[in-house]
Amino acid sequence: MTRFAEFHDKSLTQRDAFWAEQAQLIDWHTPPQQICDYSNPPFARWFAGGTTNLCHNAVDRHLAARGDQAALIAISTETDTERTYTFHELHAEVQRMAASLKALGVGKGDRVLIYMPMIAEAAFAMLACTRIGALHSVVFGGFASGSLASRIDDATPKVIVSADAGSRGGKGVPYKPLLDEAISLAQHKPSAVLLADRGLVAMNLVAGRDHLWADMRQKHLNDQMPCEWVDATHPSYTLYTSGTTGKPKGVQRDTGGYAVALAASMKHIFMGQPGETYFSTSDIGWVVGHSYIIYGPLIAGMATIMYEGLPTRPDAGIWWSLVEKYKVTVMFSAPTAVRVLKKQDPALLKKYDVSSLRALFLAGEPLDEPTARWISDSLGVPIIDNYWQTESGWPILTIANGIEKKDSKFGSPGIPMYGYNVKLVHESTGEELTGADEKGVVVIEGPTPPGFMQTVWQDDERFVKTYWQSVPGKMVYSTFDWGIRDKDGYFYILGRTDDVINVAGHRLGTREIEESISSHPNVAEVAVVGVADNLKGQVAMAFAVVKDTSGLTDDAARAKLEGEIMKVVDGQLGAVARPARVLFVTALPKTRSGKVLRRAIQAVSEGRDPGDLSTMDDPTPLTQIKGFFSA
Ligand code: PRX
Repeated sequence: MTRFAEFHDKSLTQRDAFWAEQAQLIDWHTPPQQICDYSNPPFARWFAGGTTNLCHNAVDRHLAARGDQAALIAISTETDTERTYTFHELHAEVQRMAASLKALGVGKGDRVLIYMPMIAEAAFAMLACTRIGALHSVVFGGFASGSLASRIDDATPKVIVSADAGSRGGKGVPYKPLLDEAISLAQHKPSAVLLADRGLVAMNLVAGRDHLWADMRQKHLNDQMPCEWVDATHPSYTLYTSGTTGKPKGVQRDTGGYAVALAASMKHIFMGQPGETYFSTSDIGWVVGHSYIIYGPLIAGMATIMYEGLPTRPDAGIWWSLVEKYKVTVMFSAPTAVRVLKKQDPALLKKYDVSSLRALFLAGEPLDEPTARWISDSLGVPIIDNYWQTESGWPILTIANGIEKKDSKFGSPGIPMYGYNVKLVHESTGEELTGADEKGVVVIEGPTPPGFMQTVWQDDERFVKTYWQSVPGKMVYSTFDWGIRDKDGYFYILGRTDDVINVAGHRLGTREIEESISSHPNVAEVAVVGVADNLKGQVAMAFAVVKDTSGLTDDAARAKLEGEIMKVVDGQLGAVARPARVLFVTALPKTRSGKVLRRAIQAVSEGRDPGDLSTMDDPTPLTQIKGFFSA
């Protein structure tokens, strides 16, 4: 066996010994009593009885050895600002934020919703929450009031932390009015709102509810706010993600398992050293931002770059200029971003000294070979594809060069990581597929490793039903991804088995988009599918049946209605969820029992053969859809 194969084998066959060793990578207030309690499957309780704190491991733990080294580097090419916080400074800011939250009534176990652009205060807020044992629930800034309202109602936060505005392409994007609208739409009302005022957009403050961070910070300037030692199984946060139904799921993460998982991944997979700089181009609204902008790098004692801005502004060399300036050693991005850069002048990359870089990690969507080759040749460093999910918190498939140097294979994110017992099963029989190149659903056998989601927030039943009972006859965790494994054990991911689409690395539920479009008064029925796109991986394409077609006589009228529908989606869900096109059809292709044939719609939209249509009721609607794409 190779070194990694042994390492992986030990993680499963001597599970407790393996993870007890990894647990040494973090600080414990009291050591764990039990490594893995799997007495109530599929709920795995990692490091039960041990007490620790995420913020302590990310910040306080480093004060003695590297208090004056950079911890957080907040860069905005939108506002032309760059500010480095040392671990000491970060510690002070986080304590001020924690004291402010406490003063606003937040205690252990309470939820704090964070709706913020990529500014340092967002990091302070996340770390302040875990410091006092409160759960943060970060909502991506690109989501609009409808999405925000449903998350407010699910998380029932005591306090919401937000800002006046984000900024995109040099233009302020207001957050506060959307937040006010979301709060008025929501049943639950937070008792307080804490606002960072960047001076980008004027804000109307609600008396008695809204507080300015600058004032609160001043009030608590010198407050000491010790870390709350919480049980390893105490939830640290919830993060909403899309699934098959319209209602987003609150993925709930623990504390101890997550800290250990991240510390281990920083060592074995990302190989980041204390004192170095890590640059992840993601957003704190996504899981990559949680694990590899905020917690992972800081736990490893690295400086982490938080970047607000486009990859192409002021020009497409901006990221590489930051690599040069901050001597970034580890970088993390998404294939979409690389595809955007690939279309720009290649000389911009050559302009900078990127020799500090050891590897570029890419995740979130399939990495196509031309993109991988281009960036690998341009940078001259290994490109490491990694596959995971909001649910897992850290890579499921990749290569762990910290254990054993392995080559990547183009098109494959890699092999199962330690702690993950990954299998392929037949979609309808649940039978395990062991042969090379057989296509099946990628599943994980329990117990899932540390760092993996604990449950769906406030809905254990949904957690079990959705994730663990979708494969017939077997209790295994379904990733809802199709995959194959080659003869060398490398996996290839072939897309989702459910109604989730991946637009520029953003995971979106087509059902949510359909619900939003259906709220337009003239829409009778709609189907949204993901269609392959050269730049974004996939785009959402909507096919709508309108109630009153009398006005839809020409292209201009159709374009007007299309624009109106897009506006509805923008307003409710946010521009990230806006379909690329809304095409009007007389009917949707359905089975005789009335189920919309989404897979067939997707296939013909991509110019593929729709496959078996024996259950289809009437062929006309599909022919009409085909017509849009055959021009
Ligand atoms: O379909 C897979 C795809 O993105 C989904 C998870 O998205 P999200 O919850 O936003 O988490 C992203 C964490 C990186 C997966 O179910 N996906 C993610 N990474 C890859 C991928 N598809 C192919 N290759 C990848 N490397």
